[in-house]
Amino acid sequence: MKFFVDTADVAAIAELNELGMVDGVTTNPSIILKSGRDILEVTKEICDMVDGPVSAEVVALDADSMIAEGRKLAEIAENICIKVPLTWDGLKACKVLSSEGHKLNVTLCFSANQALLAAKAGATFISPFIGRLDDINLDGMELIADIRAIYDNYGFTTEILAASIRNVNHMKDAALIGADVATAPPSVIKAMASHVLTDKGLEAFLKDWEKTGQKIL
Ligand code: G3P
Repeated sequence: MKFFVDTADVAAIAELNELGMVDGVTTNPSIILKSGRDILEVTKEICDMVDGPVSAEVVALDADSMIAEGRKLAEIAENICIKVPLTWDGLKACKVLSSEGHKLNVTLCFSANQALLAAKAGATFISPFIGRLDDINLDGMELIADIRAIYDNYGFTTEILAASIRNVNHMKDAALIGADVATAPPSVIKAMASHVLTDKGLEAFLKDWEKTGQKIL
């Protein structure tokens, strides 16, 4: 499973990138707001740091304006992936921009039928939002499983990009189902390394090591 980092925090991206944990980056208008940076400037900086796709989202609501915004975002760098919302106009923009050879991430997906339409419109990635479904007591992971089954039934090449990931269990479950990509905040990716028994075991080993009176260096 590929890891995308769901942030525009360049220091956090750099730290994970050094460990080979960054296969791409996703942003959205809320993430840009949180960064406090200019969208074109911060997106360019991220594109220069990361080899994989960097999603930058359009904000227009009609297809023609989305297409114009998408083309402008695509000028930032070769590895830009244009993010459009899963609306009828978003699907129109997806079809046009993907036909021009751009990478497209269709976002705000909350149903398997929406995902089916995105694949037919030429999406490179479909972004089902797990956490936001869980927030309203629906099963976000069931949506990932449904999309996986539908895409596999028909051989769609659109990649499932599990999004709105809030915790480490979301990462594990998305991987078990076979999501192609998961995008998560840096804190969730780092939390995957933690286990209480690792901490406890390390503490015990260090106590015993101290008793040996030895040194490695
Ligand atoms: O990738 C989409 C993600 O940014 C949304 O996450 O936590 O705002 O639902 P969240």
